Amino acid sequence: MNNLSPLISARSLTRQYRRGAEVVKALDGVDLDIRAGEMLAVTGPSGSGKTTLINLLSCLDAPTSGELSVAGRRVDGLPESELVAARRGVLGFVFQKFHLLPTLTVAENVELPLLFLRRPADRAETLRVLETVGLAERADHRPGEISGGQMQRTAIARALLAKPSILIADEPTGNLDKANGEAVIALFRKLVTETGITVILSTHNERHAAACDRILALEDGRIKTAGALHS
Ligand SMILES: Nc1ncnc2c1ncn2[C@@H]1O[C@H](COP(=O)(O)OP(=O)(O)O)[C@@H](O)[C@H]1O
Ligand SMILES: [Mg+2]
Repeated sequence: MNNLSPLISARSLTRQYRRGAEVVKALDGVDLDIRAGEMLAVTGPSGSGKTTLINLLSCLDAPTSGELSVAGRRVDGLPESELVAARRGVLGFVFQKFHLLPTLTVAENVELPLLFLRRPADRAETLRVLETVGLAERADHRPGEISGGQMQRTAIARALLAKPSILIADEPTGNLDKANGEAVIALFRKLVTETGITVILSTHNERHAAACDRILALEDGRIKTAGALHS
């Protein structure tokens, strides 16, 4: 991969689900190129395929057919064990529901993935990442003691700790009020500007989508419109 090739590239990307005798085309032939350092919004009504696309780009799920390259590597057709390797250090995930453990502190929640990898945590590094998301003072609080916006920023810090080149978020502002939602979008923008990370997020919120560099609108598993808002 050179600097000019897209960071993520999809051709005829398709994901079908079987529901009884019926086949659901959740994603139906999507072509897509995403540049490094882009902030992309995936929009569309409920059931249009946003989560399906996000899960494929995240290498959390595999396409039924089509081609997908992530960070210079073909990932369609890879077995789960190799998808895990393709994700590591490349992709960071943020979910609508923050998935924090209530008994752990903010700092411990950020370090949790290291526990699974049996790697030691570096508390100074954890605090640096918490500083980046504006939560250094909350390191010793528990999720129950902070706001929803702070919980989501904790989840973003957790995703950032492994220094991914791509941050993917499925409706990251879906459970947040207006102010906290806007703060999360502003944080993504800051990360893109300051670190060059690539951000892909799905959203129902038109203002949040408009704050991104580009909108990919889905309808019935297909791309409806795609255009640069500002470049
Ligand atoms: N595991 C599944 N099994 C069967 N159908 C599914 C599954 N996941 C999603 N779908 C269907 O695929 C379509 C797209 O769903 P999804 O990607 O979740 O859309 P969105 O995130 O935009 O709401 C919908 O029709 C949904 O019902
Ligand atoms: Mg969804």
